[in-house]
Amino acid sequence: LTVPLIAPSILSADCARFGEEIKAVDEQGADWIHLDVMDGHFVPNMTFGPVIVKALRPYSRLFFDVHLMIEPVDLFIEPFAKAGADQILFHIEAGPHAHRTLQTIKSFGIKAGIVLCPSTPAQAISEILDLVDTILVMTVNPGFGGQQFLESQLSKINQIRNMVDATGRDIRISVDGGITAKTAPLVINAGADVLVAGTSIYGQKDYRQAMNALRGQDVK
Ligand code: DX5
Ligand code: ZN
Repeated sequence: LTVPLIAPSILSADCARFGEEIKAVDEQGADWIHLDVMDGHFVPNMTFGPVIVKALRPYSRLFFDVHLMIEPVDLFIEPFAKAGADQILFHIEAGPHAHRTLQTIKSFGIKAGIVLCPSTPAQAISEILDLVDTILVMTVNPGFGGQQFLESQLSKINQIRNMVDATGRDIRISVDGGITAKTAPLVINAGADVLVAGTSIYGQKDYRQAMNALRGQDVK
């Protein structure tokens, strides 16, 4: 089995102490930091915008993986890029011009990712694979932490793995929602190599142990 990259989602952290919570997972072995941006329109919840991302930037030098659950997307690319995002991910469902949006993200010299909701088929992204650095498969409906993993997404992860391998390009396959030590081996087997996790890291006392459990390394 591949050892996946672990991307703690600060959505489940102590929100009054975001800076310290990012520093804590950084010191305890996180690979990326996942930041969930919600607009109360594309998803039925709200979180934070570029000002907060900028304020959090000094707390860690890890890769900031910014997951936009917003619509429209394009107006906000520049502010998030300037705030310190290393990668901006947006939803294929958020508008008709994903190709242009990917080009805009790349024009800021950062990585670009596309996200699929559970109801969206793998084929929806077949024509933009040449522009993506990460494909994020939602394994819950976006909007909230702590939801139950949707097993129906495993075959989609596998299809996307095959699509990616066929391109020969170095594209990360990430999963987000309900990832625990139990579901991690399922998604890794299906082809994922980045695990986003909120509750199963920030809901635990020992962040290092929680992240190692997701990697399949249970040693303390
Ligand atoms: C959900 C967010 C996730 C969320 C995952 O819309 O995109 O990143 O934090 O939370 P868990 O790991 O608790 O399912
Ligand atoms: Zn997310």
